[in-house]
Amino acid sequence: MPTETVYGLAANALDPDAIEKIFAAKERPKDNPLIVHISRTDSIEKYAHSVPESARKLAKAFWPGPITMIFEKTSLIPDVISAGQTTVALRMPNHPLLQALLETLPFPLAAPSANPFMYISPVSADHVFEQLGGRLPYILDGGRCEYGIESTIVSFEGEQAVLLRAGAIERDMIELILDAPLIDKTKNTTIKRAGMYHKHYSPHTPCVLGTYEEFRDDTRNIGYITFSRILDMPTEQQYQLSTKGDMREAAYNLYHALHKMDTREFDVIVAELLPDTGIGSAINERLRKATHQEK
Ligand code: TXA
Ligand code: MG
Repeated sequence: MPTETVYGLAANALDPDAIEKIFAAKERPKDNPLIVHISRTDSIEKYAHSVPESARKLAKAFWPGPITMIFEKTSLIPDVISAGQTTVALRMPNHPLLQALLETLPFPLAAPSANPFMYISPVSADHVFEQLGGRLPYILDGGRCEYGIESTIVSFEGEQAVLLRAGAIERDMIELILDAPLIDKTKNTTIKRAGMYHKHYSPHTPCVLGTYEEFRDDTRNIGYITFSRILDMPTEQQYQLSTKGDMREAAYNLYHALHKMDTREFDVIVAELLPDTGIGSAINERLRKATHQEK
């Protein structure tokens, strides 16, 4: 299914057998919980309890939209979705086709991103087809995803909001609505949570962080991903995330660029970091994971 962030691999969130098929198709470890997609704000009450006031403010400000919130789950949510934890991740997506689908279904949809485990997230129906086509009965084509990176994930400690994964909604926007700073646990690796795997979002081609200047004398066949800078070399060897230097456009192009460059048979892909502010931080976090070198 298309969403405004990335494509999701969806199944009936209330049916454990359907959920098992998601883990099988993605080859995803069972200790990594799934997001439940709902079509109405009042469904929170069905699937979550002890919902803090700060969560209601965020739902009012950003739903439908790319923010996912973690709550204590009700017994309607099967344990396989939450990987044995007592919590559930809820999100109300903002994509017209998906909203229409959710409204016709008598159940919510559990969905992780529709990529094989650790590979690049898909932002078009073609990406899904290339990666998982043979394993799926249907792909709902909703065009290119508007944001191009995953939702921001927030949990709560009482009324205090905690950032678990940087994403399409900037941290500053959330702090503005709550009129309070977020606790940043995006780097906390002791709990099972969003983005806990260091290597993630990776192309098959080896990928490193760096700049053209650092690799100028390297004799390998190198593909470059830059933020906005156009390099003095053939166009097929480079990809600008946004020639205007617009970070939102860069997010929109990020996974598309990684998919494209991954098909061009480079020895290595060198990617440049963006300014570490706003959505740039969320992009950089994905670039760091795509370029993580196994020790
Ligand atoms: O934009 C998105 O969020 C996309 C679209 C399809 O909605 N979905 C997505 O799903 O990115 P996925 O599975 O690739 O990433 C969801 C993250 C995982 O890292 C998972 O660990 C975390 O959400 N998560 C899910 N349930 C959780 C829970 N109960 N507690 C903590 N983290 C949770
Ligand atoms: Mg994912």
